[in-house]
Amino acid sequence: KSRFSIAIDGPAGAGKSTVARQVAERLGLTYVDTGAMYRAITWKALQQNIDLQDEQTVSRLARETDIQLAPGKTGTDIWVDGKKVTDEIRTPEVTAKVSLIAGQPEVREVLVEKQQEMACRREVVMDGRDIGTHVIPDADVKVFLTASIEERAQRRYRESIRRGFEMDWEQLKEEIRLRDEKDQRRKHSPLRPAEDAVHLDTTGLSIEEVVEEILNLSRTKV
Ligand code: C5P
Repeated sequence: KSRFSIAIDGPAGAGKSTVARQVAERLGLTYVDTGAMYRAITWKALQQNIDLQDEQTVSRLARETDIQLAPGKTGTDIWVDGKKVTDEIRTPEVTAKVSLIAGQPEVREVLVEKQQEMACRREVVMDGRDIGTHVIPDADVKVFLTASIEERAQRRYRESIRRGFEMDWEQLKEEIRLRDEKDQRRKHSPLRPAEDAVHLDTTGLSIEEVVEEILNLSRTKV
């Protein structure tokens, strides 16, 4: 363990990426959106008409794929094999399928290795589902972000509209619930708080309040 790092985990729509990005900006660290990496593989597999249940083919695909992350205008920009797919990885189709791929141990192995390399090279704020438990178990600060399902659905709803997808509210809520359930129930690196994570319920809090809270936690560590 060498570099300073902050791990932020939690269910879908808890505000992880917005908060993580701002914390990184304020502290001059690199933000790494690990969900975007699982989405990237899902997008590419769909693109190539690969059977998403075929673990061997999917893991080979993951191993052969070049994924690059960089800060963009509205979040992380992501390149897959040199093609910018920032918007493509956020479609409802990719969102609905991503848990299927994220449940496969070999895919996880490939992506976790990439994530650990990033945390080795740079000081990072990394968000995901298993960062505090598996990817950087010795992170300096570990936060588990949650919010009520209503609030999380509302955030996703607004985000979807902003991205130009018409979503049915009840359906969106059900999708979030289902995705969390799959992420929590999977055998490999399920979504769960690390034992030493600080729990932060963001229901009713502003982004700024959550960011400040995490900055406070970090101050005690730097
Ligand atoms: O964070 P985001 O909602 O973009 O993540 C998409 C999906 O990627 C999650 O629902 C989960 O299945 C998977 N994921 C994961 N481990 C991570 C990050 C994301 O399994 N560290």
